[in-house]
Amino acid sequence: MNTKKINRKLEEFDKNYIWHPFTQMKDWIEDTPLIIEKGKGSYLIDIYGRKYLDGISSLWVTVHGHRKKEIDAAVKKQIDKIAHSTLLGLSNVPAILLAEKLIKLAPKGQTKVFYSDSGSTAVEIALKMAFQYWQQKGAEYKNKIKFISLYNAYHGDTIGSVSVGGIDLFHQIYKPLLFDTYKIESPYCYRCSFNKTYPECNLECANYAEEMIKKYADTTAALIVEPIVQGAAGMLVAPDGYLKKIRDICTKYNILMITDEVATGFGRTGKMFACEHEGVSPDIMAVAKGITGGYLPLAATLTTKEVYNAFYGEYKDLKAFFHGHTYTGNPLACAAAIANIDLFKKERTLQKLQPKIKYMTKRLKEFEILNHVGDIRQKGFMVGIELVKDKGTKEPYALEEKIGIKVIKEARKHGLIIRPLGNVIVLMPPLSIKMEELKRLLDIVYVSIKTVTGSSI
Ligand SMILES: Cc1ncc(COP(=O)(O)O)c(C=O)c1O
Repeated sequence: MNTKKINRKLEEFDKNYIWHPFTQMKDWIEDTPLIIEKGKGSYLIDIYGRKYLDGISSLWVTVHGHRKKEIDAAVKKQIDKIAHSTLLGLSNVPAILLAEKLIKLAPKGQTKVFYSDSGSTAVEIALKMAFQYWQQKGAEYKNKIKFISLYNAYHGDTIGSVSVGGIDLFHQIYKPLLFDTYKIESPYCYRCSFNKTYPECNLECANYAEEMIKKYADTTAALIVEPIVQGAAGMLVAPDGYLKKIRDICTKYNILMITDEVATGFGRTGKMFACEHEGVSPDIMAVAKGITGGYLPLAATLTTKEVYNAFYGEYKDLKAFFHGHTYTGNPLACAAAIANIDLFKKERTLQKLQPKIKYMTKRLKEFEILNHVGDIRQKGFMVGIELVKDKGTKEPYALEEKIGIKVIKEARKHGLIIRPLGNVIVLMPPLSIKMEELKRLLDIVYVSIKTVTGSSI
């Protein structure tokens, strides 16, 4: 079969056999699928050899670019030794070495690493860990069985992580399956629930959180939060001081703080972990996505000695953490993660990122004059551009207008791959993107928004 025929077959088989995630398949079937075959640096290359800038780091994971020599080599080297062995009853070399690296990298206080394979599982583990911690800490804490979570939160797609989620569009339908949580307002300044403006608001959202936590502390195991940026809700950036204040409140009322760094971790916000922006150390933290630089599925839930010790005891006391996925601590994935982390130092990734963040901030200012750009949110290399029907009233575009989808389709014509979150255009390029590539990315996004929204500017 010639290449043209193979490509047609791939397109046909895709439509016939794959059910794509977070995708209305009717729209998908009516369109031609873009099928990626290769990658290099900041680019994705499809089966026809067309090159696209990867503007969302292949769903927020790519760190040092595609086909990074050092990570390729680490995976190849490991595959010559062993691809998989279990962490249940055995250990393996890359999992051990990576755990030590993660603990050295993480905010202080983290001492133990529990592996899994996706952001959702890392969160499930965090929730179960927090729950079991209180159950085993002492009879007086037995009622601490609930969680406090935020509106607009996204922590994954498994039932536990959906229970602590707060995006109705994704989560509403599953309500009968979910466990109850106490929900607090999200720090969404553009559409503030308290109708206030930062900094005059004096962090009303955090003050409100304190009231809730105080009220429910006796029955609450933990609060879970995406530190600084609520990603899937549209890159909602919390005002300065919010995270620290929440940490202090959790400590004050004796509930655990779980930070979900799945999206924000590994340099995404300009620091290794978002918590570092406010000197915060959680009791439990979940990491995934960027951990392997976008190579293989791996996740980890880190915690403190205090939490770990509540599980430590005699075999017969049944205090062990009865949780573990088949591919937990997979050696190939851990080898990729070690190479990924080592590159941060070798290539001074975070230092080199700072001027790119500044450039992005400067260029995004230009977008403010566009008629339908309501809000621009940025923390490091996490950007959300919220498009609105009416800038004065902040009226959102209706769902059926598919404005985000139209913008990304326009961008694709110019050779850029991005993916919207509703009416929010998300930009999350690999941290390694070159300045000229970043410039091109922003040029394309600007033109695409302008074309699609018919902005008169
Ligand atoms: C903050 C956060 N937590 C958890 C998840 C779920 O991760 P995964 O898709 O790997 O299960 C995501 C995914 O986008 C996320 O952004």
